[in-house]
Amino acid sequence: MTSLLFKPLQLGGATAPNRIAVAPMCQYSAIDGVPQPWHRQHLGALSVSGAGVIVAEATAVVPEGRITHGCTGLWNDMQERVFADLVRDMKAVGPGLAGIQLAHAGRKASSQRPWEGGAPIPADAVEKPWQTVSASALAHGPGWHTPAELDAGGIRALRDAFVASTRRAERAGFDLVELHSAHGYLLHQFFSPLSNKRTDAYGGTLEKRMRAPLEIAEAVRAAWPRARALGARISGSDWAEGGAGPEDAVVYARELKRLGYDFVCVSSGALAESKIKVGPGYQVPFAAKVKREAGIATRAVGLIVTPHQAEAVLQAGDADQIALARAFIDDPRWPWRAAEALGATAPVPPQCLRGRPNTWPGAAMLKAPAADKAAE
Ligand SMILES: Cc1cc2nc3c(=O)[nH]c(=O)nc-3n(C[C@H](O)[C@H](O)[C@H](O)COP(=O)(O)O)c2cc1C
Repeated sequence: MTSLLFKPLQLGGATAPNRIAVAPMCQYSAIDGVPQPWHRQHLGALSVSGAGVIVAEATAVVPEGRITHGCTGLWNDMQERVFADLVRDMKAVGPGLAGIQLAHAGRKASSQRPWEGGAPIPADAVEKPWQTVSASALAHGPGWHTPAELDAGGIRALRDAFVASTRRAERAGFDLVELHSAHGYLLHQFFSPLSNKRTDAYGGTLEKRMRAPLEIAEAVRAAWPRARALGARISGSDWAEGGAGPEDAVVYARELKRLGYDFVCVSSGALAESKIKVGPGYQVPFAAKVKREAGIATRAVGLIVTPHQAEAVLQAGDADQIALARAFIDDPRWPWRAAEALGATAPVPPQCLRGRPNTWPGAAMLKAPAADKAAE
């Protein structure tokens, strides 16, 4: 059987050399939104992996849209310059599409880095908290900052900020932009009936709750070149009574497709009320439903860990691409192992070929149990 995981994938005007994506992963290591040497090694190592798409972390379109003081941003020239440098490096070391996730954390902003506790920043902290914003003036949960409700002017300014960052992403050389509208962040706060209690044109029915995210999505589409790839991370389920579910995700994905989006990545959860039932491939059924019913290129993510598991998702027709996050931290050369397991050619740069055990003289003996015994 030919491996689908290593088959190229067309995303808009861009072609990913295989169907393995590195999911965006916040590193909480930026200074004033500017990526640092840590990001260079992080994105560099992931690019060397040969993954078809590497998506840089949730990057805020305005300062108050950062989750933490350590989150990256793309609202000024310095950030754009450093990202341009990073993209150049990523492309120099790997064949994958260089992507960036554009985001606003809304009421989940102004929090500590995970290793500081991940709680809302207290008023007396050295790094100060800030006023958060959301669809409604409802805190994420007990103890969280109460956000200010965005008015129509605020929503327009938000749209303009997403567009400005999109243009910066283009100038920085990214091949792919992913609009973050999942995980309980601002666009999802508009989407979910649990966080959006508005009574104006931006709240109430699903159509009205989708209005702000879709106005932003449309403006981003107009700003991003068709020759590159554009998608969105969407939420397959709020995993909560009264929350949004897979049917809503299908409607949203259809709208994104209508606007000219090339793909969606189907994730879920991350509102305070979400009670996620986690297990291997736990979000794949949401991706499968969206792919079948919305007919848009779909990426599945969430506890997809082994090569055969990833391949099976594609063979079943449940998704067009798979993404991994934690497994890539654990093993930044995951695609090399996947190719070995699936009988495909590993996307190994020539500089790394001598590190592959099949090229080591005498290495075959290491694999034989007898040789192991003799060495003891
Ligand atoms: C360290 C870390 C940082 C993350 N940062 C982001 C992010 O910036 N944007 C996002 O949409 N998801 C983020 N996620 C979620 C992952 O992209 C992914 O959806 C999730 O970890 C499930 O995939 P996995 O089981 O392969 O890890 C992050 C996850 C981890 C572990």
